Amino acid sequence: MLRPNRGRNTPTHIGFIKRWYYLDAVDVEVLRKVVKPATDLEDFLLRQPEIQEGMAWGIPRFGHPEGEVWRHVVEVLENVMSLKGISDQERLDLRLVTLIHDTFKYAEDKTPPRDWSKHHGILARKFVEPYVKSKRVLDLIEWHDEVYYCWRLEVLYKRPSLSRQRFDRLLEIFEGNFAFYHRFFVCDTTTGDKNPAPLKWIRFQAKGLIDPNL
Ligand SMILES: [Fe+2]
Ligand SMILES: [Fe+2]
Repeated sequence: MLRPNRGRNTPTHIGFIKRWYYLDAVDVEVLRKVVKPATDLEDFLLRQPEIQEGMAWGIPRFGHPEGEVWRHVVEVLENVMSLKGISDQERLDLRLVTLIHDTFKYAEDKTPPRDWSKHHGILARKFVEPYVKSKRVLDLIEWHDEVYYCWRLEVLYKRPSLSRQRFDRLLEIFEGNFAFYHRFFVCDTTTGDKNPAPLKWIRFQAKGLIDPNL
């Protein structure tokens, strides 16, 4: 259903066309067309009202000139599908993470003091837990933004020891499999007009643990 956007849509980018209406939810057929579900689980997720609502959330903003979550998902999916040298299973795992990782932004409460237990990654993990058994997929959904927060702590907030502490915890969570985390981080960050600095930072921090060609 189309609803007036009540002036919340502020154009900030050259070539940006104002969208005066936003959608409550993205129709399942539209999602099927752009996502091209590769498994029954992907198709099942696209049929869920929470996912359809989450995909419709978002207006053009810094880092995300594309606006709605579904447009970002399409960009990340394109990156995942063009990754070279990974197994079919890893590609399916990365696709699944892509579909869900930002889809609960609409349900996130960002009012201070921030309740980090309601981060969109945690909400997404809780939603798919009944359907997904893979620990690495669930962990990646939950922690997908953590490298960005580690980079921000060190570089922007000048808190290197806290950054190190959190980064070490992340390495522990993805013990022996940080290359998997990194692949997704690259696919997610090389979208929209996101700051590429965290990509350089992680390449240095995780040297020897990640694919050097990414
Ligand atoms: Fe995110
Ligand atoms: Fe994302």
